[in-house]
Amino acid sequence: MKKNVLSILGIKDEIEEIIDFGFQLKNDVKNGKKLDYLQGKTLALIFERASTRTRASFEVGMTLLGGHAVFLNKDDIKIGERESAEDIALVLSRYVDIIMYRALKKEDLHELAKHATVPVINGLDMDEHPCQILADLMTIKEHKGRLHGLNFVFIGDGDDNLTHSYLLGCTLVGMNITVISHKKHWPSEYFVDQANMIAEKKNLRVTITDDIDAIKDADIITTDTWVSLWYEKERQQIMADLKDYTITQDIMNKAKKDAIFMHCMPIYYGEEVVKEVAHGKQSAIIGEAENRMWVQMALMVKLLSQ
Ligand code: CP
Repeated sequence: MKKNVLSILGIKDEIEEIIDFGFQLKNDVKNGKKLDYLQGKTLALIFERASTRTRASFEVGMTLLGGHAVFLNKDDIKIGERESAEDIALVLSRYVDIIMYRALKKEDLHELAKHATVPVINGLDMDEHPCQILADLMTIKEHKGRLHGLNFVFIGDGDDNLTHSYLLGCTLVGMNITVISHKKHWPSEYFVDQANMIAEKKNLRVTITDDIDAIKDADIITTDTWVSLWYEKERQQIMADLKDYTITQDIMNKAKKDAIFMHCMPIYYGEEVVKEVAHGKQSAIIGEAENRMWVQMALMVKLLSQ
């Protein structure tokens, strides 16, 4: 039966298996092995928002697996304007084997996924970024050798698709999570409740606070852009609210000495983080971007073998 990945919850019991397969693929390709897992398969990439990492990593990843990718931008496809998400889903399902969709409206993503007869992957919507959390967990495992028992700290705009995915993904793999932000920018209650439910069963901590000193036990520190497309009109207010949460080296120094810094990119230097930290000795950001490709390759193989 086809499976969609609209949320990290859709693969909640397979996260570590996918990550470990990502490591295998990375190792194989770096050792010169030619892969043919998805020979003759085609991926449709639908983007209604700009992208560098997601587009390039999916396209190159599909090529490395022996398959092919077709790019469809919002001006060509015009979902909901030129034709419905349902019709696009039905037609694309006859051409391609798997679809990745970065939607402006989450309703369109869910409608397309409902009608597609092939698996649909969320390439980031207003609520979640499941591919990014997979890559981030892979990167953490690469640096720390494990996931279980680590302390993950997010600082910045907590009411953000990535923070939601961190709340779910970190607890699912046995990590404690702390979100540090101005009270006006705490994560949506729904995602905090979901994370708390997972955490309770595993005896983990989910902490939402405005106290920057809550960084002190962090093994991983991360942030994201403060102003995403959906909130551009509120830019000035967000900047004012979050001005004390820019990650500087002084803030990093409050955490464990071997803590790593992560960021999904793109970065707005001087807003959520300073360049000295983003490209400093604790930074894992470039490897994190690379791991998008390996873990998404693993995910596509997994989805197309079911
Ligand atoms: N992190 C991420 O999703 O990057 P892009 O927006 O460039 O795809």
